[in-house]
Amino acid sequence: LEFRRVLFRSRLERVPDPCAIVLFGATGDLAHRKVLPALYQLWRTNLLPHDFLVLGVARRPYTRETFRAEVRGSLSHYSRTAVDDPSLDSFLAQVSYLQGNFDDPDAFERLKLELDTCEREHGTGRNRLYYLATQPSAFPAVIAQLGRAGLSHETGVEGWRRIIVEKPFGHDMESAFRLNREVGRVFRERQVFRIDHYLGKETVRNILVFRFANGIFEPVWNRRYVDHVQITMAESIGIEDRGSFYEETGASRDVLQNHLLQLLSLVAMEPPATFGADALRDEKVQVVSSIAPMTPADVAQNVVRGQYGPGWVAATPVQGYRQEPEVDPDSETETFVAARLQVDNWRWSGVPFYLRTGKRLPKRATEIAIQFRNVPHRLFRDTSIEPEPNLLAIRIQPDEGILLRFESKMPGLGLDIRPVSMDFTYGSAFSVDSPDAYETLILDALLGDASLFARADEVEKAWGIVTPILGAWIDDVPPRFPNYDAGTWGPAEADRLLARDGRRWRRL
Ligand code: BG6
Repeated sequence: LEFRRVLFRSRLERVPDPCAIVLFGATGDLAHRKVLPALYQLWRTNLLPHDFLVLGVARRPYTRETFRAEVRGSLSHYSRTAVDDPSLDSFLAQVSYLQGNFDDPDAFERLKLELDTCEREHGTGRNRLYYLATQPSAFPAVIAQLGRAGLSHETGVEGWRRIIVEKPFGHDMESAFRLNREVGRVFRERQVFRIDHYLGKETVRNILVFRFANGIFEPVWNRRYVDHVQITMAESIGIEDRGSFYEETGASRDVLQNHLLQLLSLVAMEPPATFGADALRDEKVQVVSSIAPMTPADVAQNVVRGQYGPGWVAATPVQGYRQEPEVDPDSETETFVAARLQVDNWRWSGVPFYLRTGKRLPKRATEIAIQFRNVPHRLFRDTSIEPEPNLLAIRIQPDEGILLRFESKMPGLGLDIRPVSMDFTYGSAFSVDSPDAYETLILDALLGDASLFARADEVEKAWGIVTPILGAWIDDVPPRFPNYDAGTWGPAEADRLLARDGRRWRRL
């Protein structure tokens, strides 16, 4: 209880209303790895209402019992904390299943009846959260069917209706517009919760607290003091068993369009007037709107794409991307992207934001580095070492924390200067584990708080940056792929992108 009191202090009074969660794609990977374990964790820590149910919907011909058995198995595998039988049994007692095809109107009529019955049994007050954890290609069908069956309206019915839409939200600007229109025909924007799980990470949520609950950083958080910003999301894993998905996606759609641009927005945004969802998202949209879409010539100059070949990761030989299952042996899909973006506004004019992400890099590390300008005048000319500019590194994961680097005099009779660090780590500062991003996000959606979800215009603006890049690549000669070995920090061009500006990537 003490643990919960500390972790969720601000939330203890805010238990969601009784409700039903309808999980579309309930037998899929995402449901089993992320959504159900998050629900179970919320349940066992009493953060879900007592009157609650999960209704899984998918194509497989399961019964409620077979589905429960499958969920039991996956929870013991993927739960963040060890499962215990009493809480697992009580959670599973709230879980049910309905077989149905997403484009079958009859299935949605049955869903309606099933919900009515379940809601009576479980006393969920007719509040419903629909969760789209299906293949993205099924999103439009499910949304349209929910509309057709009258399952989306809030007016004239008892209870609220909300929908969580998983990523990727669209494939490019066009398709994101279309999907937003399809969603908008059936749901009001305040009912829609678009997931970017990075926004649910503790360390990402802390960016706003770090910036706006402290007085000393904001005055230097601008072009006068900041030389440039680096945002890296490196992964050592390859594409695992997602070959056909990744072939259609690539690093730009998979990570740049969402996770990296979200991190950039949080770093670059102006302080919002309030902590409300719209005030926050208005400011993030301003940032993305300040990044001018690139021409093909800009793309050639400022964006680097890469694809890994065979190599070594963690002392183990790994195959190249083109040898992965379900991947075209001549694939031109990028598994790495680096970009130099310019936020053209009063605060950031002239400060480059360097972003990079890649699969099969040497390690898993996501970090935001604020690199400050050098001192204006070199007072200590006679020291042997050139002073390094200050650095603030926000480690999103792993080894979560924040480091501030500054210069210090070396102990001794002479005057020697060395960089030293002040390092805050979550592990030593707090004695509690962070919740998983999905726990945070699902709880927020149940509470109706959309702050950590992407709004329609935000998603479209982000595609407005990425789509011209993808377009330029179609007409451009692709680099000779593969152009980096697995287990290295990406193609040499990514280093040149910074070297051209007299800078280099921070070693992680
Ligand atoms: C997902 C991407 O959104 O984020 C994956 O589709 C990626 O390709 C994953 O591996 C990374 O998430 P995390 O939380 O492990 O950094």
